Amino acid sequence: MVPLHGKKQIWLVYLRKHNEKEGFFWSTTIKKNFSLKKKNLKKFLKDQKINNFFNNKKRKIIIEIGPGIGENLFYLADKYPKKKVIGIEPFKNGLANIADVCITNKIKNVYLFPHVFQKFIDKFKNYFFDQCYIFFPDPWPKKKHMKRRLVNYIFLNELVLRCSSKGSIFFCSDNLDYFEKVKNYANVLKKKGSKILVKSYKKTPTIVTKYHNRALKLRNNVNFLKIDKI
Ligand SMILES: C[S@@+](CC[C@H](N)C(=O)[O-])C[C@H]1O[C@@H](n2cnc3c(N)ncnc32)[C@H](O)[C@@H]1O
Repeated sequence: MVPLHGKKQIWLVYLRKHNEKEGFFWSTTIKKNFSLKKKNLKKFLKDQKINNFFNNKKRKIIIEIGPGIGENLFYLADKYPKKKVIGIEPFKNGLANIADVCITNKIKNVYLFPHVFQKFIDKFKNYFFDQCYIFFPDPWPKKKHMKRRLVNYIFLNELVLRCSSKGSIFFCSDNLDYFEKVKNYANVLKKKGSKILVKSYKKTPTIVTKYHNRALKLRNNVNFLKIDKI
């Protein structure tokens, strides 16, 4: 990991410390100056220029679908300072906090798309990425609601097609049924000829997020999936 300096470093140490302990330090930050954060979010969104991102095939792009309050985005932005890290998230409170952390800590390689992923696909018809993260998507555990799950076979196929060669897709869930289904979709894609490798893990490849912490507190098993494009 690239060492951070000044404020950035203090913030990251703070993030790690609280992540390791009870997990969650945001409650006080979230309440603080929320209207100011919303104003800052507007400015952040106006200033960022993501419209031409996908015109340059050489650009290294990481996307996270549903980053929530952004811990993983910040981790990735720090680990890959030369890559553009895009958070695709419709949740306004989360967005306001991500923008606030980026402004306060002068994080320059995080960008936000403030809508659902389906809108992202519609807007950026030529999108691609090196890495895609989907951590703890809403599990919709009831059978009658399963159709609402974000990741299904068609969705995963779309991601595999848009993933650059030697790129990766990371998925995790503490809902075993969801995890097994996504793993199965990946294996079916592989059988049908997609050039991918599918691996499962128990440990996060990045950082413990809000929902990861929640799962740990509930003593739920968390499973990670990594799909590598060959
Ligand atoms: C359970 S939270 C997980 C947040 C974060 N990844 C974590 O690990 O703490 C699911 C997130 O996905 C977002 N989300 C739900 N549907 C989405 C969609 N269609 N496109 C993008 N994000 C979505 C929600 O707003 C929410 O922030």
